[in-house]
This record gives sequence, structure tokens and C-alpha cells, in this order.
Amino acid sequence: MTVTVGIDQMGFYTPHLYLDMTALAQARGDDPAKYHVGIGQDKQAVIPPTQDVVTMAANAAAQILTPADQKTIKMVLFGTESGVDNSKATAVYLAHLLDLPADTRAIEIKQACYGATAGLQFAADYVRSHPTAKVLVIGADIARYGLRTAGEVTQGGGAVAMLVTANPRILALDPVSSYHTADVMDFWRPLGRSEALVDGKYSTNVYLDFFRTVWTDYQAQTHRTIADFAAFAFHIPFTKMGRKALRQILPEATPDQQTALTAAFEASQLDNRNVGNLYTGSLYLSLLSLLRHGNLQPGDRIGCYSYGSGAEGEFYSGRLQPDYRAGFNDAAVTALLAKRRAVSVAEYEELFQQQLDLTGTDVQLPVGTDPAPYYLAGRQHQQRQYRHRSEA
Ligand code: COA
Repeated sequence: MTVTVGIDQMGFYTPHLYLDMTALAQARGDDPAKYHVGIGQDKQAVIPPTQDVVTMAANAAAQILTPADQKTIKMVLFGTESGVDNSKATAVYLAHLLDLPADTRAIEIKQACYGATAGLQFAADYVRSHPTAKVLVIGADIARYGLRTAGEVTQGGGAVAMLVTANPRILALDPVSSYHTADVMDFWRPLGRSEALVDGKYSTNVYLDFFRTVWTDYQAQTHRTIADFAAFAFHIPFTKMGRKALRQILPEATPDQQTALTAAFEASQLDNRNVGNLYTGSLYLSLLSLLRHGNLQPGDRIGCYSYGSGAEGEFYSGRLQPDYRAGFNDAAVTALLAKRRAVSVAEYEELFQQQLDLTGTDVQLPVGTDPAPYYLAGRQHQQRQYRHRSEA
């Protein structure tokens, strides 16, 4: 008998600071409508130096893991393009912070914004052959393009943690998916740089081309059409990108279905609009936003489009499960977003420069101002010092 496998739980974390896009537009001499409407972003997470991808992942994962889950996790797959070491995996730090058992595999996966999707699919394959196992999949990143660059409005950061199990509560993955790879220089970050290099318009075109390719291939493999879908979730480093992808396929739907799919898209981009770019986590925050704000029914089929520059694209789908709302803490996500503090453009610029540099010198960070349970206290002897509030 085939085992039903998929996403059982989702947790989300983004730091306690944000920058309003009207303030950024005004500071850069741009029309705020370009940022809010043209790009489709209202707020952007600002990452204090006391948070990196490891602490953000721990803050997301700790929300969903019960002591029983912790004992049965067999693998941690950490998708990120903001790794903190050229050799050691972020997943190993995370497994330690979460007190996971020693008989756990913990590895990092890198392919730009696609890493978490690779993790999800590898996790699903593993659970299909080991149905009692649970796999923790992370998508965590800090999107940095640089001050006063064209990409500045598409920055942000945060982490999504997903528990992949048999008989999942949220989304049962369909076994078929479609993927596509080509060697493309649309976005990359050479060793030694903390900011990405990007040709944003070219990247958007490649993203749209890949979507067309995998969507066509998925339909050929499954004989499904757009009529089989209640909603789509897209990789949205900025929300306009997903809107353009949806527009490509909407003409395939009836007028009523176009209305429903557009409404679902609006729901799927609400939270991303207020957090900004999560790179690997962007698709999964969008999925969570759809679950939180969308008008969905158990049994609905949701299509997910993942894209990582460089480039890899994948389209897969899943069926919403009867008790899907039990798989995430809606109120906690609302509270996390509502409790954030707006920073001025000057404070954002200062914090942007304060992220741990590449020199390796010892540093103690101002930990008292960060309310997160897990935080980065500094660096000693070239080693990051991770802490939990309970140790302070
Ligand atoms: N009111 C409303 N909309 C406006 C506007 C205004 N006053 N001014 C401009 N716009 C619209 C433009 O028409 C355009 O819309 P379109 O894309 O639908 O045509 C959009 O705003 C962006 O304007 P544009 O002039 O193209 O902006 P830009 O040159 O600053 O570049 C990006 C925008 C997104 C390309 C740039 O921010 C970037 O490179 N970001 C990084 C992209 C990325 O992350 N790529 C990899 C991810 S996979």
C-alpha cells in the first residue's frame, strides 16, 4: 500500500524589526507606489546582528516540535544560501540547539532559493520508505542585495520549518513533480561576498520561462489541468513575481475559476508582502499565508512552484488534509508579525552594516535588545556563540 506523505506541521520566524517600504522609497527618492504596487512589497524584515539562519531556523522549529517529535526526527535538511560556514552544515548547529537525538542525519542543501524544496522532496522520499520517521526541513535565509541597489526593495529574511511525516496533517504530496535545470547567471553570490549579484529583470524572465516549462511538463505527466487546482503558491522574492507567473496560466481557466485563483493568490502573498524576501523560505511562507488567509477546503489540490536562480525550477502539488489548520499556529504567526517594531531608514542602514563580518575577529553582540528565544551572542576563536534565553 502506498504511504501518504507530506507536510505535517509548519513553523515560521522572522525577527522583531521591520522597515516600512514607504519610508525606504522616500529615502531613495522613489515613488512609494513603485514599491507597494510595482514591486508589491509593504514591509521588509530587518535582521539584527544577533540573528542568523541558524537562530532563525531554531526559533521557527522550536514552535512546532514536541518532545515526542524530537525523539523521532531522523533527518534535518537545511535549505539555505546564507550558510555561516564553508564546511560545517547549519543543520548540525540546529540539531544541537534543538537537542535532537544523536542518531539524526543533519545536512545543508544549497541551490539558491530552491534548497528547501529539494529538502522537502528528499524528505518525502525518505519517509515513503521509512514511514515511522520524521524529517525536519528548513528554508531560512537573509536576503541582502546592498544599500541603494535596485534589489534593496526585495530584501528581507526569516525561516520556515516543516515537519515531513507519513499521514501528514497539512498537505499530502502528490508523488509526481516536474523539475528543470539550466546553467543560467541570473543571480549569484561569489565566495567572500555577503551581498548577491543579480540581473533582476533577466531573473524574472527565467523564472517565468521555467514556470511555463515545468507546468507544461507536469500536465503532460499527470493529465491534470488548471481546473484540478484550488490554488497555487509561488516562490515570491517580491510578490509581483508570483502575480506575473499566475497571469501566464490564468487564461487556461474558466472566468469563475480565474476569480477564485486570483483570490487565492491574494491570500498567498499577504504575509510575504509584510516580511519581504526569504529566498528558500519564500515559497513556504507563501504556502503558509495561503493556509492562513485563503478560502480553502480539505481535499483541495494546491500547486507549488519553486525556483532557485542559477537555475532550478520545480512544480509539484499536494492535497489539503481534513485537519490542516491544526498543523500551524495561526495566532502565533499573527502575533509575531504584529509585535514587530518599525525602524527608521537610518537604523536599518546601521543594522545592515552590523551583521557578523567575514574577518573572523572576536565580537560580543548586543543581545539584550533581541527578544527571540534563540540568538547569536557573538564570535570567539572563529566560532559562532549560539544561546537560548534560558541560559542568559
Ligand atoms: N507606480 C506603480 N508601479 C510602478 C511605478 C509607480 N510609480 N514605477 C514603476 N512601477 C512598476 C514598473 O512598471 C515595474 O512593473 P512590471 O515589472 O510589472 O513592469 C515595477 O514597478 C518595477 O519597476 P522597474 O523600473 O522595473 O524597477 P527596477 O529597475 O528598480 O527593478 C527589480 C525591479 C525587481 C528587477 C529589482 O528590484 C531587482 O533586481 N530585485 C531583485 C530580483 C531578484 O530577487 N531576483 C532573483 C529572485 S529569484
